[in-house]
Amino acid sequence: MKGLILSGGKGTRLRPLTFTSAKQLIPLANKPVLFRVIEAIREAGVTDIGIVIAPETGEEIKQHVGDGSRWDAKVTYILQDAPRGLAHAVKISRDYIGDERFVMFLGDNCIQGGIHKLIQQYEASDYNSQIVLTRVSDPRSYGVAVLGEDGQIVRLIEKPKDPPSDLALVGIYMFDRHIFEAVEHITPSWRNELEITDAIQWLVSHRYRVYPYIHTGWWVDTGKREDMLEANALVLEEMTPRIEGEVDAHSQVDSRVTVEPGAQIVNSVVRGPTIIGRNTRVVNSYVGPFTSIDHDCLIENAEIERSIVLEHCVIRDVPARIHDSLIGRRSQITRAPSKPQGYRLLLGDYSQTGLI
Ligand code: TTP
Repeated sequence: MKGLILSGGKGTRLRPLTFTSAKQLIPLANKPVLFRVIEAIREAGVTDIGIVIAPETGEEIKQHVGDGSRWDAKVTYILQDAPRGLAHAVKISRDYIGDERFVMFLGDNCIQGGIHKLIQQYEASDYNSQIVLTRVSDPRSYGVAVLGEDGQIVRLIEKPKDPPSDLALVGIYMFDRHIFEAVEHITPSWRNELEITDAIQWLVSHRYRVYPYIHTGWWVDTGKREDMLEANALVLEEMTPRIEGEVDAHSQVDSRVTVEPGAQIVNSVVRGPTIIGRNTRVVNSYVGPFTSIDHDCLIENAEIERSIVLEHCVIRDVPARIHDSLIGRRSQITRAPSKPQGYRLLLGDYSQTGLI
């Protein structure tokens, strides 16, 4: 069994962060989503992993992931010239996959509890494909599956106005070589992409055995800021906390906080679940629950909660509490040093601010 991670795409919904960096490298609890995907695949016993990359962000992904030896895995990169759809990514991976069965995982998805159970189930079956489904409260914005009497998938519908079930497709799929036949037969959709749902529908229509795996824990597609914050909160809740940095006697740090090596908490209150990254300093500040501050940041005379702060940021002397925010690498949020009073901003294209 091989693994295929889709880590190309444009990430338009996470601009401006994705102008300079791959969205799959945005960290949840200070570890990139993509690393969590690799770990999930590796923990399921799959060591041969292909990663589909885009021309714009592929080099950065290669630099971070390397050859996979860190996970005791072998990583092969597959360049996709443009985001022509998930089924297109499968199509260009044919030489890499060969005749093996494989698990395909979207590089920006995060699932509770790993994937070893579903891989085991697929390996023990004679199914041509098994797709992961989960129950959602509003299926109208997802791909939705209709199951037949014997539990087999009989139909897939993209974003149905009137959903036939509450079973939505999660970004994890298992296929055998017949999927390559399917992707050759489908045509691009209205958004000009080769859709994986069309390819799976082709399998179903041609009487291949496509079965569901119903996932019961949480699952988050981190495509948008709010989803990213939600995924960060869920991952933080599952962490085993550890204090490896310094906490001074004037600080209050509760039992669900992780302080990484070299970090310093000085005269501050930190409420978990929260992680403070390597060499970050939190001084005279409040860091509230569900916050991840990455390495080498400074938080001084400030308050922040339910946010993700990437590496090398400075947040200093900010009069109002920052919350529900996603702050890119090397950002500075500080008080203007001189008159006239007011907000002084240097924002990249597509930035979003919420001033009071
Ligand atoms: P999406 O989130 O559907 O697409 P995107 O990354 O282009 O984002 P946006 O809609 O905000 O512009 O992609 C899901 C995952 O699959 C993500 O990790 C990127 C990857 N992907 C590819 O590798 N190739 C593709 O052709 C597409 C469409 C996505």
